[in-house]
Amino acid sequence: MAGLGSLPTARRGQNAVLRRAAAPYSDQYPYTGAKLDGKAGTGKGGVQVPAPGDTKHYYQDPPPGAYRGPCPGLNTLANHGFLSRDGITTYTEMVAGLQNVYNVDFATAVALTMLGFVFDGDPISEMISIGGDATLITGQDGNFTGEYGGVSKHGTFELDVSLTRNDFYLTGDSHSFNGTLFAMMLETAKNTSSASNPLFDFNAMALYRSQQYDRARVENPWLYFPELALHNYGAATFLYEAFPSSAKNNTPDLETISSFFGAVQLEDGTWGHVGERPPPNWHNRVVPMTLADVTGGIDALYAAYPKDFGANLGGEWFSLNQTYTPSTNPSRKRQAPSAGDDSLVCGAYGEILETALAAPQPYAMYGFVLEKAGPVFAPYNCSFPGLPTSIAGLANS
Ligand code: HEM
Repeated sequence: MAGLGSLPTARRGQNAVLRRAAAPYSDQYPYTGAKLDGKAGTGKGGVQVPAPGDTKHYYQDPPPGAYRGPCPGLNTLANHGFLSRDGITTYTEMVAGLQNVYNVDFATAVALTMLGFVFDGDPISEMISIGGDATLITGQDGNFTGEYGGVSKHGTFELDVSLTRNDFYLTGDSHSFNGTLFAMMLETAKNTSSASNPLFDFNAMALYRSQQYDRARVENPWLYFPELALHNYGAATFLYEAFPSSAKNNTPDLETISSFFGAVQLEDGTWGHVGERPPPNWHNRVVPMTLADVTGGIDALYAAYPKDFGANLGGEWFSLNQTYTPSTNPSRKRQAPSAGDDSLVCGAYGEILETALAAPQPYAMYGFVLEKAGPVFAPYNCSFPGLPTSIAGLANS
């Protein structure tokens, strides 16, 4: 086996130079109280982000070589140093950043972060790229357990029928902002609210998601739209659940949404792109965002314009003949029998555990999930027939 000395120096150099780490939190600027320790904050929102004077969390353009991807929410966090500005972040940075910036409640922050990790992150170094594949940076010499694609990787968390990103098939780039798509989303918002004050609210997002699906059915001859694509309905809820400012009556208006998407209108009327950030004087939600907000939103957005799950095979539609079971329905697969928030948390936890089993090194990923998320979800008493709750159980299953 080759010794460390024979490893390419460029690779070791990348490790040393790129990873910067998030700006630490201070008592002076506590936000919602989460620290870089993987634990819960206070959940007390209505906080201005970035806090005036907290220069460490002010906007900066991504540094050279930084990773950015399809998620405006994560790109914003990195542009403000809540995640490492190079876009190579950690489990603890993400759990804290989601709580402190968007006032995501603790269990929900853990669930969203873990979902990202089981699809695209490295369970040993506990790092994830918010953009493309950075395995050689997120992994460590002598400790590469798999190729981890990062948040941009298509076919994991990133799927067809997005809001402002192309389907992968069309250009091979499903992570970059597309101004034409943003303009179409804006047009829909104008039609569902008003041209003078377009709102990216539930009505706009439900209709726009429907339009995007219909368009993809025609334009993408290899469209793939399994039930998993419902995740993208979750992302659509963030426009009216996470981005609006509580200092502006939680209104998902154009100023707010364009700022978080980094969308700027050019002289010719088209939309270009700059670094994502909150608009000036932005305050986060007063009440934490829960899984119920997200999954309830998924159910309602889908129910407004139900779509067939399936795939285009060279332009011919092949239906998967699946009927959508709302996540609020207790008979949904993977859910604990209890109703309400508990069952939603258990539903998410079950999905995370199942997805971990498909990771390049399933035992490493499963152990990572049990270690980090296990204690957080333990109070919910989830039970998953057939899914082990320990590594020993995994070995015997
Ligand atoms: C509250 C926190 C978050 C907010 C506000 C947020 C916001 C968004 C929005 C608005 C989109 C849609 C972009 C578009 O289609 O044009 C999106 C997409 C995405 N987000 Fe996030 N996000 C959050 C957390 C996360 C986390 C924790 C991860 C993973 C670690 C993640 C991964 C993704 C991915 C992979 C996509 C692309 C989905 C697709 O369109 O195929 N997001 N996010």
